[in-house]
Amino acid sequence: MSGRLAIAVLVSGTGTNLQALLDTVHGREADVVAVASSTAEAQALARARASDIPCAVFPRSQYADREARDAALADWLAERGARLVVLAGYMELLSASFLARFPRAVINVHPSLLPAFPGLGAIEQALAYGVKLFGVTIHFVYECVDSGPVILQRALELPHAREREEVLRALRPLEHGLLTEAVRLYARGALRADPANPRRTIIDVPAQRGGDG
Ligand code: GRF
Repeated sequence: MSGRLAIAVLVSGTGTNLQALLDTVHGREADVVAVASSTAEAQALARARASDIPCAVFPRSQYADREARDAALADWLAERGARLVVLAGYMELLSASFLARFPRAVINVHPSLLPAFPGLGAIEQALAYGVKLFGVTIHFVYECVDSGPVILQRALELPHAREREEVLRALRPLEHGLLTEAVRLYARGALRADPANPRRTIIDVPAQRGGDG
């Protein structure tokens, strides 16, 4: 036990956000103790193995229903000691019973400025709408898709963008920077709900040390 925050990362795809966490947060402010994928095909699994992180695959098709899959997944994450669950390109919905096992401890990275363009194909939705301002949101996960309280957001002007790939390429560094920042803030205990409006996440800034003298 390192005393650092133990985090689990849930993936389905290429795993560049997982890699950012492994490269900059793992072993420093937090420890990635588990990587779970919805599919054995995810490139993210190779990244986890390369860093000696225990990984497992929980395909929906191998369980009676989503509840059964989520119970097995939550049990495995709890066994690994995970206290924060990071969805990094995880393409499955999580049930209320899963979220109840990790209250206010599941976060997601989404490639739009929520509440605009929730759900699948956020970048395609934004391009189809014709927006000129794109962005990334890190938020707590509630049962409804992409609806939980916002933790961090950053916008990027791309007035001439036409292709999904160019937007994705431009948003990647924002995603990696914001997700790692959110995990660091969470690990530091710096995130709390505003009592006046629990949808609003207050970020506690550490007191300045030193001063004039
Ligand atoms: C990211 O664009 C993220 O915003 C979305 O899924 C993608 C995952 O990319 N939810 P990667 O697997 O981390 O490379």
